[in-house]
Amino acid sequence: MPDAQRHPFLQGLSKHRGAPPTVVVIFGASGDLTARKLIPAVFNLGYDNLLPADFFLVGFGRKPIPDEEFRKIATGAIKEFSRRELNADVWDRIAANTSYVAGGYDERAAFDRLAKHIAALETRIGREVQTLFYISTPPSVFAPILLNLGASGLAARYLGRRHHSKVIIEKPFGRDLISARALNTTIRSVFEEHQVYRIDHYLGKETVQDLLVQRFANAIFEPLWNRNFIDSVQITVAEEVGVGTRGGYYEQSGALRDMIQNHTMQLVALTAMEPPVSLDAEAVRDEKVKVLKSIQPLKIGAGGDVTRAQYAAGMMGGKMVKGYLEEEGIAAQSATETYAAMRLSINNWRWQGVPFYIRSGKRMARRVSEIAIQFKRPPGTLFAESDRFNLAANTLAFQIQPDEGLSLVLNGKVPGLETRMQPVKMNFRYSTTFGSNTPEAYERLVLDAMIGDGTLFIRGDEAETSWALYTPVLEAWATAGREGMGSYAAGSWGPAEAEALLATGKHAWRQP
Ligand code: BG6
Repeated sequence: MPDAQRHPFLQGLSKHRGAPPTVVVIFGASGDLTARKLIPAVFNLGYDNLLPADFFLVGFGRKPIPDEEFRKIATGAIKEFSRRELNADVWDRIAANTSYVAGGYDERAAFDRLAKHIAALETRIGREVQTLFYISTPPSVFAPILLNLGASGLAARYLGRRHHSKVIIEKPFGRDLISARALNTTIRSVFEEHQVYRIDHYLGKETVQDLLVQRFANAIFEPLWNRNFIDSVQITVAEEVGVGTRGGYYEQSGALRDMIQNHTMQLVALTAMEPPVSLDAEAVRDEKVKVLKSIQPLKIGAGGDVTRAQYAAGMMGGKMVKGYLEEEGIAAQSATETYAAMRLSINNWRWQGVPFYIRSGKRMARRVSEIAIQFKRPPGTLFAESDRFNLAANTLAFQIQPDEGLSLVLNGKVPGLETRMQPVKMNFRYSTTFGSNTPEAYERLVLDAMIGDGTLFIRGDEAETSWALYTPVLEAWATAGREGMGSYAAGSWGPAEAEALLATGKHAWRQP
């Protein structure tokens, strides 16, 4: 069967996940994210027959680019970055509805041109479409774009009663509490909250969604999911990559802003939240906000809850790699952390006394993101720890990436005539059970925004709650400069200070 028949993009809506006719406008159309993630996501949604029959893609950017050239750039992006190979039947149909509008983000007239462009598309098909604005630009132009969407009337388009104009806002969502609040104020001056989709791409990852399924679709976990049975929780988001060519951005950001405040805290929220009353976006996000609000203020300074470090030169994959301070675009005395670790105390009925240890860093030993739930040890009356009894605490680990899956460590008997024990691992791997062609996070997120499902997006109060927790830490670090900055060799599991952070609670980091 030819691909066009197998993936009949033009046959219209998927039965269960149908979006209305849509025009997606990407601000920052010539940017890196557009090429790496957004265009491939649109192509793969088309391949899976999940785009509406009337679907338009409009790139918007400062640089004048003819439509034909933009389509060529998009084709190149799919060839280079899509998880599936370019399929001409699918892409030609999308490309025929792909165009480009050039203009400045603070140029009001450019938004009037965009409005006319969209009106012309509607005239062409003889019906109205919903507009989904994807702001994928540097944060300095978020506000002018939002305000111009308001001024030009583009933010307030209605299609029937349900579907409006919508806006997706890329990270970073502010750089501290004050800037996040200011951004929310600008957004709310133009859009209503239900039109707004703040991206955290970790929420689009299959395994992150699976966390909700595992917790709430299995009866065995809930009775154990509390301070009576759980000793501690460890969340690791480790990367092998360094800052590469992103030094300019990273110097203004650092591990706390880049990874902890957003991605890692989403993992904390989903792990620790109470069961929501439904899977409705508001119900889920209410619970996430509640648990984030229960986190105690972090103690800063010696013996406190936070630690930070920069990578020094080290061996990775048999090669010596540079330290952070030697990287391109990094100040010689930079006080930007490439690693941060925290001990969080969630002061509610379920979690009081259970430390949540979180860490994230670049240039670490291995790329791995996981959530490890460590249960309490069994009483030592029958099998006390000894030479013969190598007892481990039961640990349930959600492997977010790579090698997505779930494992449970149990203690088992080593075969033989005497009773010896050793920890054994039960493994569930996505790739072996389901095959490896998992959708990319951005596919899910673009589709959800088109459909109007905000569950996997950050609500305004959620972003502010997380910033409220971390802003005092950022301020203290800014004042301290390099004082108290730890160091770790590239290719290692992080600084000694992070080991000390756990040692006080008689814990140690896992080696995932
Ligand atoms: C981004 C950060 O949000 O997430 C990057 O800005 C980081 O610094 C990336 O590398 C990690 O995402 P993933 O999906 O590769 O884990």
